[in-house]
Amino acid sequence: MSIRILATSPLVGPSLEDLGQRHPGLLVARFRSPGWTAALPAAEALVLLLSDRLTEADLDLAPRLKVVGTYSVGTDNLPLEALRARGIRVVNTPGVLTDATADLALALLLALTRRLAEGEALARSGTWPGWAPDQLLGTGLAGKTCGILGAGAIGKAFARRVAALGMRPVFWAREAAGEVDFGTGRGPRLPLPELLAASAALSLHCPLTAETRGLLSEPMLRLLPPGAVIVNTARGPVLDELAAIKLLHAGVLGGVALDVYDGEPVIREGWFGAPRTVLLPHLGSATRETRADMARLLCDGIGATLGGKLG
Ligand code: DGY
Repeated sequence: MSIRILATSPLVGPSLEDLGQRHPGLLVARFRSPGWTAALPAAEALVLLLSDRLTEADLDLAPRLKVVGTYSVGTDNLPLEALRARGIRVVNTPGVLTDATADLALALLLALTRRLAEGEALARSGTWPGWAPDQLLGTGLAGKTCGILGAGAIGKAFARRVAALGMRPVFWAREAAGEVDFGTGRGPRLPLPELLAASAALSLHCPLTAETRGLLSEPMLRLLPPGAVIVNTARGPVLDELAAIKLLHAGVLGGVALDVYDGEPVIREGWFGAPRTVLLPHLGSATRETRADMARLLCDGIGATLGGKLG
């Protein structure tokens, strides 16, 4: 049987196997492994993870390709223009991971501002001297401004969460000025420098594009009020990591919590020694329900392109 669907990993839930049954010819092989490369010329559909960085050279080896699916909402791992030029459909997983990602961003914001990692380490150390008035003091959030980069579904879901804590959400997004309706309230869209100058906390929810790569450069980071904290659950390269590490050591930034990294899965050495950081291994969408929903959405999209029934 020739391979029609080439996936680089099993997915959560039954959707990928179901797809393989409806459209026989499924192979699961690691990205760029000999098996994957050998199957590429016959493949009509690719299923990729966000860490699989497909190139135009891969497309040259895949003349039968009709659809490329990425098990992520982000599509920065794909050569989008080349895919468009060849008429190859792109399927990703928007919507279903909105709440999971916004929840994790909120968890990171609270972990930073309430010093959860340090508190946990102290409790586990066996050396906790007991309650003290000034022990591991954090920072309250109510009444403060939260800058949100990106006014898409995840940015708005995060705004609802911080608004519920009494914060004032403000947005930066590529589109024109005006207000963003985030469901339980509205927040202004501000030019980036103005937003940064107002934000006690900053959370990143924009895609990685040519425009957002390196957006938070050192001069931009220096516009934040002293002690501001940053949460990144979007994509690592939006933040200039070297600048952020430098400003943490200098005491200019109050903390940085990361779920994503420039160059992941390698985490820059400098993060390990930087003060006031919380580091996670890209868990934004990592709930059982969300990952199963992502698989369903992805496989439905691929199935629809290959023909036959959805579902
Ligand atoms: C995505 O889907 O792009 C997220 O980064 C996954 O957590």
